[in-house]
Amino acid sequence: MPGFSQRYPVRTMKIRLVALFACAALSLRATQPSLTIDLAKPVAPVSPRLYGLMTEEINYSYDGGLYGELVRNRAFLDNADKPVHWTAVPADGVSAKIALDRSQPLNEEIPVSLRVEVSGLRGSEGGIANDGYWGIPVLPRTTYRASFFAKAAAGFGGGVAVAITGEDGLTNFAHARVSGVTGEWHQYEVELKTGDVAPTPHARLTLMLDRPGTVWFGFVSLFPPTWNDRPNGLRRDLMQMLVNMHPKFLRFPGGNYLEGNTLAERFDWKKTIGPIERRPGHESPWGYRSTDGMGLLEFLEWCEDMGGEPVLAVYAGYSLHQEQVAPGADLAPYVQDALDEIEYVSGDVSTKWGAERARNGHPKPFPLHYVEIGNEDYFQKANTYDARFTQFYDAIKARYPALKCISTTPPREGADKVVHSRKPDVIDEHYYNPVDEYLKMAAGKYESYDRQGPEIFVGEWASYETAFPPWNEKSHAEPPTPSLRTAIGDAAFMTEMERNADVVVMHCYAPMLVNVNPGGRQWRPDLIGYNAIHVFGSPSYYAIRMFSSHVGDEILRVTRNDTPVLASATRQRSSGQVFLKLVNPQSHPEKVTLALGGAAVDEAATAITLAAASSDATNSIDAPDAVVPTTTTVNGIHDGSVYSVPANAVVVLTLRAK
Ligand code: AHR
Repeated sequence: MPGFSQRYPVRTMKIRLVALFACAALSLRATQPSLTIDLAKPVAPVSPRLYGLMTEEINYSYDGGLYGELVRNRAFLDNADKPVHWTAVPADGVSAKIALDRSQPLNEEIPVSLRVEVSGLRGSEGGIANDGYWGIPVLPRTTYRASFFAKAAAGFGGGVAVAITGEDGLTNFAHARVSGVTGEWHQYEVELKTGDVAPTPHARLTLMLDRPGTVWFGFVSLFPPTWNDRPNGLRRDLMQMLVNMHPKFLRFPGGNYLEGNTLAERFDWKKTIGPIERRPGHESPWGYRSTDGMGLLEFLEWCEDMGGEPVLAVYAGYSLHQEQVAPGADLAPYVQDALDEIEYVSGDVSTKWGAERARNGHPKPFPLHYVEIGNEDYFQKANTYDARFTQFYDAIKARYPALKCISTTPPREGADKVVHSRKPDVIDEHYYNPVDEYLKMAAGKYESYDRQGPEIFVGEWASYETAFPPWNEKSHAEPPTPSLRTAIGDAAFMTEMERNADVVVMHCYAPMLVNVNPGGRQWRPDLIGYNAIHVFGSPSYYAIRMFSSHVGDEILRVTRNDTPVLASATRQRSSGQVFLKLVNPQSHPEKVTLALGGAAVDEAATAITLAAASSDATNSIDAPDAVVPTTTTVNGIHDGSVYSVPANAVVVLTLRAK
């Protein structure tokens, strides 16, 4: 197909013709910019899992993000030398002293505790404070659940006052008390209820001894109300944003987070299940330590709570710093680990790992249709993926023949290293490209893909509008979430995926989440930003949500005639609704004739429009609603009617076939 630069002049000429021969409306309509939508014959079914989400621990996505925990460094493992994010209260260095203490381990998995010595003070004046993830959030009329392990040195015999206070230590938002701390480890739990306080992200949690003495603390935790009130659950406002996207699947646990920098730092799923106070956590490849509070079961329950299913990525013997496991006998335990993981997810309670899942609180198996073997294995210099993929594929198919295996190495032009001894069911493609590149990809990239398979999973994608790609630190000068310009690039690419939703069976933007506090981000652009109490969606978030909330079950052919407007159409067979997606990348409106091949539709259609005068427009913590969709009714729709697509716009038009 010709590029956009070739098409613009042609169109300009035709607009002049329209002006000259305005009276010859009928003959001109055929030469006006138009979209022909063939309602008579659907091309193919739309993949039922087209829109989903991809997630990993990056940008403080879980810790300091979606995962509800508010205490940072709750297990005292974040730093081997000092209790980071904890301070003595008062901080005079004399009357309250704190130190990591490996001689008083909490348990085998968490072999450390925090020793707190208070002297020379009256009751409840000495203890510790945690500053959370860029502050502990406080909302009015809210019940928080605090818990901690404690044991006391001989002679203490007292209790602990627990409170959420202002950063100044003076404002008391909520408090409770436990008594009788003994010489043995014991877990204490209290509720902290706020009153009519003004919301703030700037609080802290304090644990104060009610008399002088020495107390050791282990695994201190504080949770706000969680989605569906799940213990160890997820932040409600962020979950609402995700649920509103109607995702059909969640790809987890990564991304690079699956692989780790080294083998020891991979997502070792067996260490992420069971009681949270026995999960040591691990180093993530994104420069901070993960608590593993978001473990395998929490990922699965997250899918369940969104009404989606897991797309499970299993570790495949390659880590980012080129550490690898040789195919054959060395790899066999990792293959077994993957089989165990699949059983944990989908086995019934009569199986070993299904029973373990039931013990962890979820007897019902989760649906599982897709397993991804590794992540971006084309970065492995030793190039053993074919052998590794084959070993996993054979073992998985032998035990779970219906499971579809996803390969992470797309065949690429000129890439002689990409060989598949076993034909993958699905190939995972990743695209982080500038907007202009996305607009080109939107003009037919998938048309030539083989409908005999493999299926395509675009498991990570995002366009970017700046000179710097997401992994370049210079991009950090830009806001963490992108502008409307990328939403237009993203939406254009989505029209291409939707037009080809028979072969592109799933896709998901990445990364999904970013904590916008200084130091919170390792990558841009990101879909949804937040601090401790506010959440906002980028224009791309709204574009995806508009698309994923309006998708039919049949693909309709859309032909573009002489217009830069990108489009896709699907129809819901049961209701007759036609969802026409339109993307205008120009900074001026574009009139397009809607050619419906004689099909009759209701005169009134619904238009959901995401647009702004400038494509630089964006959303942020301070201006979360600068670019959000608006819904209007459009009258006068019929075969041959002209619709004006606003400048810099993404539109979903819902037509109703008669
Ligand atoms: O999405 C960020 C990273 O980009 C992912 O972890 C990795 O798979 C890709 O390179």
